[in-house]
Amino acid sequence: MAKSSQATWGGRFGAGPAKLMLRFSESVSIDRRLAPFDIAGSKAHAAMLAHVGLITAAERKAIHRGLDAILAEIAAGKFKWKASLEDVHMNIEHALALRVPAAAKLHTARSRNDQVATDTRLFLKHACAELRELLRLAGRAILAAAEAHADVVIPGYTHLQRAQPVFLAHHLFAWLEMIERDRNRLSAVAAHANWCPLGSGAIAGTTLPIDRAYTARALGFVDERGRPQLTQNSMDAIGDRDLLVEFAAACALTGVHFSRIAEDLILWTSTEFKFADLPEAFCTGSSLMPQKRNADACELMRGKSARLQGNLQTLLTLGKGLPLTYNRDLQEDKPPLFDSFDQTALCAEVLAGVMQGITIYRDRCAEAAGDPMLLATDLADHLVRQGVPFRAAHHAVGAAVALAESRGVPLPDLPTADLRKIHPGFGRDWAKSFDLATALRRRTGVGMPGPAQVRRQAARWRKLLRG
Ligand code: ARG
Repeated sequence: MAKSSQATWGGRFGAGPAKLMLRFSESVSIDRRLAPFDIAGSKAHAAMLAHVGLITAAERKAIHRGLDAILAEIAAGKFKWKASLEDVHMNIEHALALRVPAAAKLHTARSRNDQVATDTRLFLKHACAELRELLRLAGRAILAAAEAHADVVIPGYTHLQRAQPVFLAHHLFAWLEMIERDRNRLSAVAAHANWCPLGSGAIAGTTLPIDRAYTARALGFVDERGRPQLTQNSMDAIGDRDLLVEFAAACALTGVHFSRIAEDLILWTSTEFKFADLPEAFCTGSSLMPQKRNADACELMRGKSARLQGNLQTLLTLGKGLPLTYNRDLQEDKPPLFDSFDQTALCAEVLAGVMQGITIYRDRCAEAAGDPMLLATDLADHLVRQGVPFRAAHHAVGAAVALAESRGVPLPDLPTADLRKIHPGFGRDWAKSFDLATALRRRTGVGMPGPAQVRRQAARWRKLLRG
């Protein structure tokens, strides 16, 4: 057994935990990154204790000064973290105690349970804001690529089969819609995190006359009018990890979107498509095949989405079946939390980098978008304009497609007489349906890929993604 414990809870123990137990139970190797939030929480708590008269102004000052010095030491990489002190909270409190006698009063009316709940909420608010910004920057890179290639048309795909033509910008704006919803989900998580749990204590609050509103205000847990927001049940506040699940879910869904975007890019950059190439800085070669240029950045984005889903699963399972309230199991919430943040942030940055350097091959896009089959539906619409019911029109164009295929000629080259035999509704100007520019111009409705709509969407995104 180790020597008598230095731990803050050591009073009732004759000896400290076994070395193996320390290695097993320490979390400081992971949760030390909560230090800035932990120190902010402690400073607010000390200020509140002074405000209600539980410590003196001089003690508060000493505590603040000590915590500031510790934060500076941590930032400079000089702080000595000790696994024997378990977690970030006890490491900081212990270091403070070595500097400031008043440190012994800091934990008045507080537990590590409401402390870690507070730290986590502060971290989440910060993480959501960071990710929202990184996603905005990725969005801007996508928007810039769309605007630089505003006239490029590509086939849109369903079932990965050529379907109908769209402006490349329309496809890229679909990505922006996905990312914008992800940003909104992160805002919702930040709003849910914006309630202060300090004062919940270990489970049942405190008998001391604390001022919860004071701490909440000091830490920025306020509504848009500056009114403090306090969690309303001490047991729930320290025992629940919903917020982490919500955050991990928002990250996992963002990851699914990254993964779909990555897959589009992998397809577009394959020799078979060659609509685009990724910047060399985001590709790697093969150790064996000298010609290879692999889209590893995109493949990793696709792969990381699995990891983000795993983190969500970990957090869901962690809470399942736990009796109220705090159980040490909950300490395992931090690795998936931090990993979801880190990996989502990285993916957003990589996506921005990839899109900033993307090359679009206009000729290949034009060639693919020139496939007249993409406008078979427009030909059916032509029949509808002549009064033919859509089902009959669809059937007639299907027969025309089959005829063109059997003769080995492009659909627009079929003689009008043969088409009239299929359906008398084919008018004189049926072949005009195959004019790509006209076909796109006809798509005037909101959300459609017509040129006027795409221009409107570009303006909308410029506004939405402005800093
Ligand atoms: N390191 C702990 C965690 O992250 C802090 C809370 C500890 N509370 C306790 N009662 N042991 O969960």
